[in-house]
Amino acid sequence: MSVPVVAFFNSKSGVGKTSLVYHLAWMFSRLQKKVVAADIDPQANLTAAFLTEEAIDKIWNEPGGNTIYQCVKPLTEAGDIPEPKLQDIEENLYLLPGDAALSSFEDQLSNEWPGSMNTANLYRPLRILSAFWQAAQIAAAGVQAEIVLVDIGPNLGAINRSVLIAADYVVIPVGADLFSLQGLKNLGPALKDWKALWSKRLENWRDSKDRKDHPELLLPGGTMRPIGYLCRQYGVRPGPVRAYDKWARRIPGVYREAVLGETPGEDIEPEDDPNCISVIKHYRSLVPIAQEHRKPVFDLTPADGAIGSHANAVFSAKGDFEKLSREIIKRIGLDI
Ligand SMILES: Nc1ncnc2c1ncn2[C@@H]1O[C@H](COP(=O)(O)OP(=O)(O)O)[C@@H](O)[C@H]1O
Ligand SMILES: [Mg+2]
Repeated sequence: MSVPVVAFFNSKSGVGKTSLVYHLAWMFSRLQKKVVAADIDPQANLTAAFLTEEAIDKIWNEPGGNTIYQCVKPLTEAGDIPEPKLQDIEENLYLLPGDAALSSFEDQLSNEWPGSMNTANLYRPLRILSAFWQAAQIAAAGVQAEIVLVDIGPNLGAINRSVLIAADYVVIPVGADLFSLQGLKNLGPALKDWKALWSKRLENWRDSKDRKDHPELLLPGGTMRPIGYLCRQYGVRPGPVRAYDKWARRIPGVYREAVLGETPGEDIEPEDDPNCISVIKHYRSLVPIAQEHRKPVFDLTPADGAIGSHANAVFSAKGDFEKLSREIIKRIGLDI
């Protein structure tokens, strides 16, 4: 049985993907859900949120399964995926660190894609294309995690295609602005294509001689089921509230049409849309304070500077993230 993998994806940057994976990973662990947070973005922002620069410098320069790239690279050199060396963040919370060197895997993944539809020699391409899933599963099994949350970069490239193939579920963070809506429009068809193309590859594998020679190779189903979107509240950029409202009311229809392939329907508020998992508040200056202390917003204390109205915001952030985590757990059918 494989462990469910949830990817947080939007081809637009700055919509809060990394911040969400970071906070949700902490909250899942508090809810006694053992979780692996996997940083599969070569920008490694999630890793930088968890670890000091000194710690990152060390793991990047020591070989042997310390980062996602160190785990998948041996496959390109006829080796095997080593057991990922996870960073133990707290009880129930582990990080599979990202790596700036991962960007060099992009070409490799592009090159192997056509070969996975050949009539023979499918083993190598399929192993490389499913490498993130293999690494995530070995990592989760090693610590008996129940769920893997994955942070990814903002594009529709070959790395992200392989991450999405590894994902059972997809959560889509969006902002209420033109560029974010465009990201949503582009992402729906990409998900549909990737799912269909992976499914063809699974069929090709099923009927191949290579499969008989390598019965040990398990592959991800490529389900990538969208379980909803998370809408960022305004306040990120200065601007009139009305502009936010205008774009926000278009999100439900664009999501339905581009991601679910349904008719868009009337404009409604994201708050009233069942596909909106939650509206994410803007936590203002608490966010940089939390980043500085390398903690989630909801763990800030008066000693960190969270006093007065900040203390109330910390309290409400804890409630918000707990509710959101429980909703995601419910949508993917895990027990609490
Ligand atoms: N809920 C929030 N409230 C305030 N600032 C936020 C919030 N979520 C993210 N940010 C800030 O917005 C910026 C972009 O967020 P990030 O998580 O890096 O987005 P992405 O991964 O989609 O590029 C970061 O500076 C982050 O600290
Ligand atoms: Mg990010």
